[in-house]
Amino acid sequence: MLLDWYAREGRDLPWRRTHDPYRIWLSEVILQQTRVAQGLAYYERFTARFPDVASLAAASEDEVLRLWQGLGYYSRARNLLAAAREVVERFGGEFPRRLDEVRSLRGVGDYTAAAICSAAYDEPCAVVDGNVYRLLSRLFDIDLAIDSTAGRRAFARLAQEQLDRSAPGRYNQAIMDFGALQCIPSTPRCEDCPLADRCLALAAGTVAERPVKQGRTRLRDRWFHYLHITSGDRTLLRRREERDIWQGLYEFPMIETAAPADLPDLLAEPRLVELLGTAPWRLLRTVALPLHQLSHQRIHARLYRIETPSLTPAAEAFAIPTVTLGDHALPRLLDRYLSSPETI
Ligand code: ADE
Repeated sequence: MLLDWYAREGRDLPWRRTHDPYRIWLSEVILQQTRVAQGLAYYERFTARFPDVASLAAASEDEVLRLWQGLGYYSRARNLLAAAREVVERFGGEFPRRLDEVRSLRGVGDYTAAAICSAAYDEPCAVVDGNVYRLLSRLFDIDLAIDSTAGRRAFARLAQEQLDRSAPGRYNQAIMDFGALQCIPSTPRCEDCPLADRCLALAAGTVAERPVKQGRTRLRDRWFHYLHITSGDRTLLRRREERDIWQGLYEFPMIETAAPADLPDLLAEPRLVELLGTAPWRLLRTVALPLHQLSHQRIHARLYRIETPSLTPAAEAFAIPTVTLGDHALPRLLDRYLSSPETI
């Protein structure tokens, strides 16, 4: 049933025209937190620049992050590079064949390992992603929370039982498309659904309440104060080295506060004094960046545009020629700021 629907309605996507595990892996990592429409261009860019796992393994982290720029969740890019190097070092450059070996690569979880092994090798392993949770919880009208241990286990078992073992690769792709195109989150197209007559949630009137989530992830607010400091044609920059969001990306020197703060509060910060030195600096303008929403964090960012007579690299910041700013991978909110026409 699902396979018939897929033959009619499924999307023709480049990673579905190959059995190359490297390309399938790349597509799955890109699509982990990214929509197909956005991910496509990145997939093309990555496969053009890195046609095989060896070429990716030989790349620098800076280059990979630069190509990844705009996709978010940058740990995916760092893990991608680390895993490519593992393939070279641990598996002699040959992408591993067994599910447990694929699963052992950096950044590869149960879902991604199953997606790769089913699509590349037709291994009978069911994928369980958001689409699968939604479809199964509706089809069988299951009210177990999908973010509970019991729920995860039950859905994994059910998904494996439902897998069409005659065509695991196609079945998994089909269920993803069915979730993306037909059994969609808030406005499912039940009226023309080929599974309508066997959908228990539709019969019970609970479609809108499926899947059930406990959903107790707390949102954390953070306040970032960027110091966009230039002197003539040079700009101060730093690399985010700490284990935190945007690790490995570049940004302007910044001060983070646990609550909203204004310039007078910041002027008391020793880091700011160190960065600005003693020469008379000029505040050209203050920019409130749009609220930046991540999955579990809300970044309230403000930017101080400052010109100084001379730059004092300090507090792990270094000076670069401003024209080379574009060679550095920056978080999206700074990239947007820099490409807006009002930016000086
Ligand atoms: N999302 C994650 N993996 C996907 C795939 N293989 N095809 C379409 N959407 C996806």
